[in-house]
Amino acid sequence: MIVLGREVFLCKCSTDVAGGRDRDATGGGLRFVSGGEAHLCLLDKTSHGREHEIEFRARLARGEHWVLGLLGERVATYTWLHTRPRCAYPYLKSCAFSLPVPFGYGYDAWTSPELRGGGLRRQAFVHELRTLRSLGKDWEASFFVSYQLAGACRSLARAAIEIVPLWRIALGADRRLTIERLAATDRDASPEFTPDAE
Ligand SMILES: CC(C)(COP(=O)(O)OP(=O)(O)OC[C@H]1O[C@@H](n2cnc3c(N)ncnc32)[C@H](O)[C@@H]1OP(=O)(O)O)[C@@H](O)C(=O)NCCC(=O)NCCS
Repeated sequence: MIVLGREVFLCKCSTDVAGGRDRDATGGGLRFVSGGEAHLCLLDKTSHGREHEIEFRARLARGEHWVLGLLGERVATYTWLHTRPRCAYPYLKSCAFSLPVPFGYGYDAWTSPELRGGGLRRQAFVHELRTLRSLGKDWEASFFVSYQLAGACRSLARAAIEIVPLWRIALGADRRLTIERLAATDRDASPEFTPDAE
């Protein structure tokens, strides 16, 4: 669940996502629900310990949205969303961004290990964009670690989702964060930290 990154990209995706269901390896068995406390007991104990349960309860108590993909009574894939005006990448100290009102934030995507590569995350992404749309948000902001970005762009393009990298953030050998503006405009997320521009 924890993906550490010394180089991450803050990206945006439009929530105006078209179309019906994309194909996945579950033969249509995947159903999405709004996760709640009652679903915590369905989490696979191999990948989720007591600390996840505590953390997930706290997220729910803060009003975050748990986009949960179930196969029968089993948690197959999920992600988390919130609509607060700030997002942070917790594994790089001080890496935080202010989010304008039209943005929501998606994070902590997970697919059950034996189901990975079957298109479940892609389905979940479509669903989370629609969820944010229903909450009045035009954009989802999310962090991608550098080694996942190309694969994610390729995979999500199959569902007509375009990932737009806004900022590249990297931790240097001197432990300082550097940041590079890639496509951000004044209406996009802006860094809260004082970066060393590259
Ligand atoms: C990353 C992860 C959620 C992808 O789930 P998945 O259900 O296997 O994804 P799909 O089958 O829909 O798509 C697989 C594709 O997604 C790409 N991908 C990689 N990281 C991704 C991401 N963060 N978001 C979306 N797609 C991603 C893969 O490169 C692969 O591309 P390919 O088919 O062209 O090779 C899953 O591997 C996982 O749970 N990993 C551990 C946790 C993690 O790294 N979470 C992401 C950071 S928060």
